[in-house]
Amino acid sequence: MISVRYGLIFCFSAGYVLYCATALVGSGEAILPAKPRGTGKAGKMTDFASIIETRTLRRLLEEYPIARDFFQNLNIPPLEQELPLAEALGGASDDWLLEFGLTRGEIPAQLAEFLHNMTASETERPVKSLTILGGYDKTGIPEGVELLIESGTVISIVGPTGSGKSRLLGDIECLAQGDTPTGRRVLIDGETVGEDERFRLEGKIVAQLSQNMNFVMDLAVGEFLEMHARSRAVGTSASGGAAGALIQTCFDCANSLAGEKFTLETKVTQLSGGQSRALMIADCAYMSRSAIVLIDEIENAGVDRREAISLLTRAEKIVLISTHDPLLALGADKRVVIKNGGIYKILETSREEKESLASIEKIDKLLMDTRAVLRSGGRVVLPEI
Ligand SMILES: Nc1ncnc2c1ncn2[C@@H]1O[C@H](COP(=O)(O)OP(=O)(O)OP(=O)(O)O)[C@@H](O)[C@H]1O
Ligand SMILES: [Mg+2]
Repeated sequence: MISVRYGLIFCFSAGYVLYCATALVGSGEAILPAKPRGTGKAGKMTDFASIIETRTLRRLLEEYPIARDFFQNLNIPPLEQELPLAEALGGASDDWLLEFGLTRGEIPAQLAEFLHNMTASETERPVKSLTILGGYDKTGIPEGVELLIESGTVISIVGPTGSGKSRLLGDIECLAQGDTPTGRRVLIDGETVGEDERFRLEGKIVAQLSQNMNFVMDLAVGEFLEMHARSRAVGTSASGGAAGALIQTCFDCANSLAGEKFTLETKVTQLSGGQSRALMIADCAYMSRSAIVLIDEIENAGVDRREAISLLTRAEKIVLISTHDPLLALGADKRVVIKNGGIYKILETSREEKESLASIEKIDKLLMDTRAVLRSGGRVVLPEI
């Protein structure tokens, strides 16, 4: 269980799934070795520590408006604006420090890390392809496959319960390099991914919507979306209008995917599982720059599955869905069949299968309509099929 303090700090540091971190914590398996945070990114890196040390608080907030979120979320009392942060903190009472178990000295370093993480997502690189180099199944038999997936492609992953579908998604999520139980390797644009890119928590290439999600910060939906929208416009003052429209689009979309409606004022911790999923799918489609989206069993989320997938593919992303749902399995361009932990087959969805989707959709609609009637307290008499 993440304590409140670490929950908050974790959120600030994390990449997409957590990112916006206001904090969505997926429950996917994490088999990666621990790595210290704050590893550098390739390319130009802003020295936030010295910016925070030398700027007055007023100027710092003008240049990096998103820093306000940091202060708000740590409940930092109003500070003298004409001093640099370290000096301004000297004049604040100790009560809020006790609340978060922090020392004054730690705050500037944490703000630097927060700004680094929030601005880093601006530089995510586009991805043209993902390659999965086979490892071994559960009994050690080599998979012997090399699967190339190009951008704009939807792949479904099917197989019995416990066969290893989530494991395959987990391998992609951590950009495995032979160091997970399957021994698989994952390449981006045909190349091995560097350690920095693999382990960094911000601006991740891969976003995962896992089977279970928990929010650890009690923000309203509107604040949650605003925080993410602003993190994409950090350093500019232009976040207002454009960000406002983006938030509204994202919010409307989430509500159209979910069953029971929620408002911008609803607390994220009060959202149901399906509503959380709907929010994250909309957010992923409209705000995330992650080029690869992994979805674990969307069918149990109670959201409009077909619409969710078409939303995600619109943005030329690579989408992989682990599913037991025929509609989603056949709606994909290809399906990977998993057996005993290994990739057993890779099947292109045939023309006949695509055609039979229409019949499956009719059956699915009947089931969905029946579900809606039952949910609203009605009685059901099914027609003969
Ligand atoms: N190739 C492999 N080698 C070793 N262990 C594996 C391999 N593939 C999967 N596993 C392990 O098998 C277990 C079940 O796998 P997983 O959770 O991925 O199944 P699943 O297909 O997602 O099941 P469900 O449909 O119930 O969600 C996990 O502990 C996973 O780490
Ligand atoms: Mg699973």
